[in-house]
Amino acid sequence: MADNAAPTHPADAAPHGGAHPPWGGPAAGDILKVQDLHKHYGGSHILRGLSFELKPGEITVVMGRNGVGKTTLLKSLMGVVPVTSGSITLAGENIDKLKTHQRVRAGLGYVPQGREIFGRLTVMENLQMGLASQPAGTPLPKSLFELFPVLDKMRGRRGGDLSGGQQQQLAIARALAPGPKVLLLDEPTEGIQPNVIQDIGRVIQHLAHDQGLCVVLVEQYYDFCVQLADQYLLMQRGEIVMRGRGKDMAADGVRERLAI
Ligand SMILES: Nc1ncnc2c1ncn2[C@@H]1O[C@H](COP(=O)(O)OP(=O)(O)O)[C@@H](O)[C@H]1O
Ligand SMILES: [Mg+2]
Repeated sequence: MADNAAPTHPADAAPHGGAHPPWGGPAAGDILKVQDLHKHYGGSHILRGLSFELKPGEITVVMGRNGVGKTTLLKSLMGVVPVTSGSITLAGENIDKLKTHQRVRAGLGYVPQGREIFGRLTVMENLQMGLASQPAGTPLPKSLFELFPVLDKMRGRRGGDLSGGQQQQLAIARALAPGPKVLLLDEPTEGIQPNVIQDIGRVIQHLAHDQGLCVVLVEQYYDFCVQLADQYLLMQRGEIVMRGRGKDMAADGVRERLAI
């Protein structure tokens, strides 16, 4: 190793969320790497050998029509469902044998499709649920209410009484409560007012580009994806059939492929 090599011990790296270590350059540390991932449901081969790499500070959109396996991919990354084979590493550490709560502790945050807010619990209680895998007494980051001022005004309101857009913001805030390095979002624009979609888009950009999170956005809404994507993956029948940089999505004809 060269004398002037950058520190490589994890303890020397920037604190979580820091995509850019003090010595500059990309934080190779927090890359999420998936290799040859396969998933079956019974006899159905749902994910067919997916491989990709996600970098901190980038938004990766995963596009594809209903039923291609987008949700199954996110559930597999979170350990909500077991995979058949393949490896998943975060910062070089294998996480594919970990249970879901251990993956949360390792730095994965998940916003499920349909939000899964606890309707009878208040906004504050829903946010506290996001800390379930953390040591007792871990405080909620104040920044959550700066990101989502609407939640600040509704701390005592029941989750079930919020609008769809407010519930989506609550689901994102809940996933952010433990301070993840990677945020997985499953169709956050589904059934939501356009103005709230724009708010959510700004938050996603801030998290990735200013806070250095690695963001995975599963979406079918092309216009939203094209605004946000640094990288894109297009899925068909459990496979990645196209991939590239976000700025090339139009030239690559992603919209047309999505319609097939
Ligand atoms: N729990 C399950 N058991 C059996 N098949 C499932 C299950 N969940 C999803 N599938 C099937 O897996 C395929 C991919 O589903 P999904 O990952 O939800 O796709 P997407 O999110 O892209 O719409 C679909 O054919 C779906 O019917
Ligand atoms: Mg889905």
